[in-house]
Amino acid sequence: MDTEQLASTAKTLVAPGRGILAADESNGTMSRRLESIGVEPTAESRRDWRQLVFTADGFAEYVSGVIMFDETIRQSADDGRRLADILSDAGVIAGIKVDRGTVALAGAPGELVTEGLDGLRGRLAEYHDMGARFTKWRAVISIGDRTPSDYCINANAHALGRYAALAQEAGLVPIVEPEVLMDGSHSIDSCYRATERTLNRVFEELSAQGVDLEGIILKPNMVISGHESPDRASAAEVAERTLACLKENVPAAVPGIAFLSGGQGDEEATVNLDAINRLAADEGAPWEVTYSYGRALVATALRTWGGSGANVGEAQNVLLERCRLTSAARRGTYSPAPAGGLS
Ligand code: 13P
Repeated sequence: MDTEQLASTAKTLVAPGRGILAADESNGTMSRRLESIGVEPTAESRRDWRQLVFTADGFAEYVSGVIMFDETIRQSADDGRRLADILSDAGVIAGIKVDRGTVALAGAPGELVTEGLDGLRGRLAEYHDMGARFTKWRAVISIGDRTPSDYCINANAHALGRYAALAQEAGLVPIVEPEVLMDGSHSIDSCYRATERTLNRVFEELSAQGVDLEGIILKPNMVISGHESPDRASAAEVAERTLACLKENVPAAVPGIAFLSGGQGDEEATVNLDAINRLAADEGAPWEVTYSYGRALVATALRTWGGSGANVGEAQNVLLERCRLTSAARRGTYSPAPAGGLS
């Protein structure tokens, strides 16, 4: 394991001004998103969408790395170049999702565990040969009356540790993603407790399994109210609770925190990231604080495209504008658009 190389890749991914795009929707999820805009979901239409995103002129100014799905890393653009090469030619690091999704956790009604460890060493070697330099594994924790259970947190934390150790062995930076879901009507306090319990167990496993913390990126949820909470916390409270939880539970050796958007709207995800970064600058957080958003970066651009070649340029402009605003939030310099116009 080349620890210096891993640490250098991790640092580049979370360096100031840029963040990560999660374009690793599974074929099932990406197909549902295409259907929602009236586009027939095929390997070709999924490729057309990713090509639009990766070739947006100036994208690399805001995006340090892109997480791809297995299908995408094997696809090529209209000009014959591999999509992974289009990214690296533009100065964007290619990444790959290596988990195989979630299944019901036996004995834990309503809870999920992430699969994908079998054969992972071989798949990681192949992805490294294809140009990937970082990876992602997403564990999902849900909040309910009796959940998350210790059993679910333990099972997922153990799998994250095994994945991260294997990724580093293969020379790939692991993005460690324990996502506490926003689904439900829970309070920000419940989210804080579930996130704290989860992060604690994850870092115990990373340590027990010999993972070098300087060569990982943590991709957590923000500490935030549930979508259906009757009393959703403000951005200032989200920032305060998120930073408090991370400072308590994330070692300073981790180079960067890259938040998921988790179903927040694009404006909400931008405002919250901005508030967190302003507070992190005031308080002197020990790690970089950036984004690894999927929906919050691309949802509006996807609707603008609508599957029509005639809309590619306009969709790319919409994408770049959202990337620019999110990058401003990553620096803590975002100012919301005045009513009726873009900022
Ligand atoms: P969202 O930002 O849409 O939550 O996607 C990030 C991600 O990679 C979830 O696994």
